[in-house]
Amino acid sequence: MPATIVVGTQWGDEGKGKFTDLLAGEMSMVVRYQGGHNAGHTLVVDGESFALQLVPSGVLYEHVTPVIGNGVVVDPRVLIAEMDMLESRGVSTGRLRLSGNAHLILPYHQELDALHERHLGKNRLGTTKRGIGPAYADRAMRVGLRVQDLLDPKIFRQKLGAVLEHTNRVLTRVFNRLPVDADEIATEYLDVCAPRLIPHIADAVALVHDELEAGRNVLMEGAQATFLDLDHGTYPFVTSSNPVAGGACTGAGIGPRHVDRVIGIAKAYVTRVGAGPFPTELFDDIGDHLVDVGHEYGTNTGRRRRPGWLDAVMLRYATRVNSLSELAITKLDVLDGLETIRVCVAYEANGERHDQLPYHQSVLHRASPVYEEMPGWLTDLSEVTERSQLPAEAEAYLTFIEQQVGVPVGMVGVGPGRRQVVRFHA
Ligand code: GDP
Ligand code: IMO
Ligand code: MG
Repeated sequence: MPATIVVGTQWGDEGKGKFTDLLAGEMSMVVRYQGGHNAGHTLVVDGESFALQLVPSGVLYEHVTPVIGNGVVVDPRVLIAEMDMLESRGVSTGRLRLSGNAHLILPYHQELDALHERHLGKNRLGTTKRGIGPAYADRAMRVGLRVQDLLDPKIFRQKLGAVLEHTNRVLTRVFNRLPVDADEIATEYLDVCAPRLIPHIADAVALVHDELEAGRNVLMEGAQATFLDLDHGTYPFVTSSNPVAGGACTGAGIGPRHVDRVIGIAKAYVTRVGAGPFPTELFDDIGDHLVDVGHEYGTNTGRRRRPGWLDAVMLRYATRVNSLSELAITKLDVLDGLETIRVCVAYEANGERHDQLPYHQSVLHRASPVYEEMPGWLTDLSEVTERSQLPAEAEAYLTFIEQQVGVPVGMVGVGPGRRQVVRFHA
């Protein structure tokens, strides 16, 4: 059976966790392929809420093997805390598998993340300060430590010693901080974390291929989103990995021919946490309404998310770079109380109209949205389960999105709960 990818189409927090959880019912394996604990994926099942950062969203099903792929950066302390949290709530994490090729986040990555942000001052990116960028930077510099190094204390200490020669100089001479102590880190990672994680460490590529070859369904769960992608997002206001669908191939070790379905998750409006351009951003009462009704505060950092109208230009671009086969529109219910709804169909910059995302970032920074307006439905959608129950205005809104973007809407979220979904086709 082929693989399905769930990918964010905006700036994150679209509801990837909810839809991964929903689809995981039909899967035998769910793989996280990039990012780290900068992600915050919320699942709501029977009124109970789970906020996951590293553990794949399929973990709630007993028949699913959750896998953390090689493309993820893992802070073992956070992973263990999350496993403990799940176990204490009756969710077994025994099936969790962790790629030996995934890179480790070490305490100095977090310190460097915070120091870089402080150094940038008013130009800061607004990172989650989880050490994501510095950990991926070490990976690219080929001085990173990997999960498999937890299996070999001698090699772990050797690599740590080598990287700290450089990192401690940076910390002390560039940032005027105290050096970090290799022994302290080795004790925590090797003596405390390793015994807990070693039973879960596996050859994740082999696991995924065994599953695919056995004809079972594998779901790839993206974290972050297209516009936070290191290559395709609003650089430098991006994360340091590749959330786009292509990232699922490198981050889980499959080729593109294994993928036959790519589901783009899009909020019925847009939010962004952290700095960077946002053409449809709202600073008015409607923005406050979206934040209040949509509870738009970071799952992870608690920061208020910046709100804006849906942007079809972004979605056209996301459709291209991810080869989306369908869209899942989430949080449609958050628009319930609005009399008029707007969708950005193009940008205007320097007197020119742009139907596609301008490749030059300066143009995007200056872009003003061209809106089309349509009437709201002023009806509570939270109990809707069938397409036929949607008010005509909501149906028209979804059809308009399909026409603008050129891919079908396959699913619509009408509330945070697992069952609050309208499926347009099986
Ligand atoms: P993710 O990072 O893409 O997994 O998204 P988050 O979990 O960070 O943010 C999405 C938030 O919206 C979470 O609080 C979800 O419980 C909630 N949510 C997801 N889908 C819907 C929906 O259709 N309607 C409403 N009202 N909330 C939703
Ligand atoms: P999920 O998976 C929303 C943002 C940060 C910052 C930028 C870089 O829940 O959708 P980083 O710490 O990754 O170096 O920060 O990316 N960011 C997210 N925004 N949702 C996320 O994840 C995010 N992960 C990172 O706010 O702007
Ligand atoms: Mg999130």
